[in-house]
Amino acid sequence: MKTEVAGNGKAEQGLDRRTIEKAYARWAPVYDLVFGPLFDVGRRTATNAATRIGGRILNVGVGTGLELPYFDKSHEVVGVDISEPMLRKAQERIEREKLANVKGLCVMDGANLAFADSSFDCVVAQFVITTVPQPEKTLDEFARVLKPGGEIVLVNHIGAERGLRASFERWFSQHARKLGWSPEFPFKRLSDWAEKNGSVRLVERRTVPPFGVFTLMRFCRDDAANAAPAAATA
Ligand SMILES: C[S@@+](CC[C@H](N)C(=O)[O-])C[C@H]1O[C@@H](n2cnc3c(N)ncnc32)[C@H](O)[C@@H]1O
Repeated sequence: MKTEVAGNGKAEQGLDRRTIEKAYARWAPVYDLVFGPLFDVGRRTATNAATRIGGRILNVGVGTGLELPYFDKSHEVVGVDISEPMLRKAQERIEREKLANVKGLCVMDGANLAFADSSFDCVVAQFVITTVPQPEKTLDEFARVLKPGGEIVLVNHIGAERGLRASFERWFSQHARKLGWSPEFPFKRLSDWAEKNGSVRLVERRTVPPFGVFTLMRFCRDDAANAAPAAATA
């Protein structure tokens, strides 16, 4: 397994690279048991969306590789994750299930991807964007490595905007940090990012089971030739 490590993981909102590495080193032995079934519909939904795009797929935050068997075997998949213990589990799965379409696993920070611009048809991240120290920088990297016309597919718990659930998530967030997660992460942060980045637009947002607590989001990278023309200036 290639063990390239990029980025210094500057702390943001209490989530920093070391906290996340420590958290996922602890989760790795029991992750599949705890989060396997709970996240499975979301994981499959995002993988199906990525499969519809096909081509060369980058799976960021691949973890123990639970999603890897769901990709169409004719599509080339590369997986990256910041946690080496999680990736070791993914490597075991690739060997056990003979997933020849998975072309590589790399220890890599999603906020500093060591890939050339426009090198993937799809970037998919299942249950990842609220666990990274620098979400906007990470999403900028997703857009950079994506080919024009390609898609970023995310599935995640998104924080409630108001009501009891929003209050609970705000209170719980201080404890969740130690587990490597921001439960209060708002959708607005993603829509603001897309607007600021300028090369992508939201093409789908819908809730997925169980109980609609997870959200699937697809962002398409505009082909420069098809992008809406900029407003005329005097
Ligand atoms: C909740 S797990 C999701 C794993 C898998 N995608 C799934 O569906 O079960 C989040 C994963 O994101 C990884 N991760 C967190 N921060 C990361 C970063 N900055 N770059 C790459 N991976 C990161 C963690 O190590 C962990 O494996």
